[in-house]
Amino acid sequence: MIRSMKLSDLDQVCEIENEAFSHPWSKEDFEVELQSNPYALYFVLVEDDLIKAYIGIWLIYERAQITTIAVKKDFRSQGLSKILMNFLDTVCIENNVEEVSLEVRVSNIKAINLYHSFGFIEKGIRKDYYQDNHEDAYLMVKEVKGG
Ligand SMILES: CC(C)(COP(=O)(O)OP(=O)(O)OC[C@H]1O[C@@H](n2cnc3c(N)ncnc32)[C@H](O)[C@@H]1OP(=O)(O)O)[C@@H](O)C(=O)NCCC(=O)NCCS
Repeated sequence: MIRSMKLSDLDQVCEIENEAFSHPWSKEDFEVELQSNPYALYFVLVEDDLIKAYIGIWLIYERAQITTIAVKKDFRSQGLSKILMNFLDTVCIENNVEEVSLEVRVSNIKAINLYHSFGFIEKGIRKDYYQDNHEDAYLMVKEVKGG
């Protein structure tokens, strides 16, 4: 099932985060998002208390930004990210979002393929976007039908 992320999820979430990203968010970063960011919504995909994947979005009126998505390594290539992306589509429609954007490393082919399959297109490039290796990011954008 998919439900809102809770503070008590963060140990499991950070385990996934650490294996998924070269420059991972800390537990404190997630705490700030969950407790102090009024625009942030985070969801986990969980089975039998095991968190398999999570996704985050900022909803700022008619614009939204996907902040993160990650699937635990053991459960990749099973369609879980698509389940979460579909779920976010519904959240966006329910909240009258008109445009969703995100940034992704230009080398992250898996994620770029995923976003293409959900209708995102590259709208620009952010040079030197990532601090760890100075990699560029694509800014990807999708217009939401019904928004
Ligand atoms: C990117 C990520 C979320 C995909 O999750 P996943 O659950 O393994 O992906 P799914 O099984 O749902 O596949 C979704 C789509 O992703 C793409 N994809 C997944 N694995 C892929 C691979 N090995 N090669 C190319 N594309 C791939 C495909 O478009 C796929 O759709 P398809 O199966 O219809 O071709 C996962 O690899 C991950 O957590 N990566 C580390 C974190 C990360 O990079 N997040 C994105 C930050 S912008």
